[in-house]
Amino acid sequence: MSQNTPYILDMKAGNYAWCACGLSKKQPFCDGSHGPTNMRPILVHIEEDKKVAWCGCKASNKGPFCDGTHKNIKG
Ligand code: FES
Repeated sequence: MSQNTPYILDMKAGNYAWCACGLSKKQPFCDGSHGPTNMRPILVHIEEDKKVAWCGCKASNKGPFCDGTHKNIKG
């Protein structure tokens, strides 16, 4: 987990690599920190400029996107 709330960002259309391991210093995006782990970023294509709620807790059932699961995480 990098934070237990989503990163709500105004995104431009394009391709993004969402950090799945939680180690990146450029949350919510991959910076290569997953290195020795067997985790890899999830590649996301955003089709149009829009606001996106990226999952920060890394427990969402919708992968890169917040689905409210963070509300069940204590601590
Ligand atoms: S931040 Fe992970 S489900 Fe909301």
